[in-house]
Amino acid sequence: MAIEITWLGHGTFQLVLPDGETIICDPWLTGNPAYPAGFEITRCDTILISHGHFDHIHDAIPLAKKFGSKVVAIYETAHWLGRKGVETCSGMNKGGSQQAGSVTVTMTHAVHSCGISEDDGSIVYGGEAAGYVITLPEGRTLYFAGDTNVFSDMALIAELYKPSLAFLPIGDFYTMGPREAALACRLLQAETVIPMHFGTFPPLVGRPSALQDLAVATKILELTPGIPFTW
Ligand code: NI
Ligand code: MN
Repeated sequence: MAIEITWLGHGTFQLVLPDGETIICDPWLTGNPAYPAGFEITRCDTILISHGHFDHIHDAIPLAKKFGSKVVAIYETAHWLGRKGVETCSGMNKGGSQQAGSVTVTMTHAVHSCGISEDDGSIVYGGEAAGYVITLPEGRTLYFAGDTNVFSDMALIAELYKPSLAFLPIGDFYTMGPREAALACRLLQAETVIPMHFGTFPPLVGRPSALQDLAVATKILELTPGIPFTW
């Protein structure tokens, strides 16, 4: 079963299954400097939220309301989204799995913060930052790390779920950079890694080429926003 993966810039991805079922990870459309101009999301069955920072949650509310998407997030962030009028949230926590359409999503750990900025400038508690393992109906698994540093328990993700594809942040400053991501590649043992969360803003200086130089055993696949990759 081939799925179509499209990077929508920064930490946002669209995954389309063969029957058209569509998953959006960390939706940031409006104001995303790396969003592919003119790209339109025409279906959204599931939204996966790694954490509550604006560059990961910004368009979750309008997308969920437009498409009636199931929104998966950690419990506190899901609760916040519910208070904002999203009636299709399914809050969960780390180590748990749930069905989302035809895939199974398992929430993993991430080393990052998770405050949610309110319009009045305050920051509310959003639970903890997380990642996801997505298990396709035929059994292949991919790992979407969200924003994180490397952590030794990535070895547990490898042992438990054996992801063959991993999405890892490499930009530095707000997440790990290539040095740390190279160790993440070794711990995760995924054949292919898609770098994300780099280049969007000047401080995000990590580059796929730098990661590839350090992670020689892993295929580092740099996507172009808006151009689908079939996996
Ligand atoms: Ni973040
Ligand atoms: Mn971020």
